[in-house]
Amino acid sequence: MLTRPSLGFGLGLRVDHYEAILADRPPVDWFEALTENYLVPGGKPLHNLMRVREHYPLVMHGVSMSIGSTAPLDRDYLAQVKALAARVEPEWISDHLCWTGIAGKNMHDLLPLPYTEEALANVVERIRTVQDILGRRILMENVSSYVTFRDSQLTEWEFLREVAERADCLILLDVNNIYVSAVNHEFAALDYLNAIPAERVQQIHLAGHESHGDYLIDTHDHPVPDPVWELYAAAVRRFGTVSTMIERDANIPPLEELCEELAAARAVAERTLARAA
Ligand SMILES: [Fe+2]
Repeated sequence: MLTRPSLGFGLGLRVDHYEAILADRPPVDWFEALTENYLVPGGKPLHNLMRVREHYPLVMHGVSMSIGSTAPLDRDYLAQVKALAARVEPEWISDHLCWTGIAGKNMHDLLPLPYTEEALANVVERIRTVQDILGRRILMENVSSYVTFRDSQLTEWEFLREVAERADCLILLDVNNIYVSAVNHEFAALDYLNAIPAERVQQIHLAGHESHGDYLIDTHDHPVPDPVWELYAAAVRRFGTVSTMIERDANIPPLEELCEELAAARAVAERTLARAA
């Protein structure tokens, strides 16, 4: 088995919820911590994280690896990630299949790649290097996008599959991002799901987005909408029980509300698996 057994249903760890988490110990199976928030050794953020860690399994999710860039890998950043992992002992470490800058400029955005053999070779080599440095397989997450490149030779799902297989890494499948990109670029979301190597999917993200009529923006500020729930059910049919979590980054509601949404995710998965059986 390449992947770990499911951790169950988790949430993105947000500062607004620390107190409630530590006081009430909500029925959340695990939390995903944003790597960049805890890279400074010591201080309050890390202290709080370690308190949560006493009660819940954690995974680390980064936004700065810029794995698709052609700028040299940031070895200082990777050393910091490795040091944090030694401390937190996360179940796994993930980042995004994208690039975030070039020539020392960080765009603070998860930018899509051209799906070419050249980009593929570059990203595969870089993932292999990162995995050597961190001493473990990492998870690569599919990002949502609003533009495509004329030079692309592969579809996004072919590219993701090739990356995972050639780099021997794992996949964090963001179901909302697939849906957002499917609407924006007019492809069938199920074609995407069906091309993903099931044995490499270790985590699923669920989130909401903002509709602008004929295009969607991946805002993470709404509850998970119906079409994303439907796509999630299709993902459960295809991938079985996979660690699943809800991401909310803006308009963050009280923790109870997110726990209710997480219960809905649990219900969708259970119903889908029961029907499949
Ligand atoms: Fe995501």
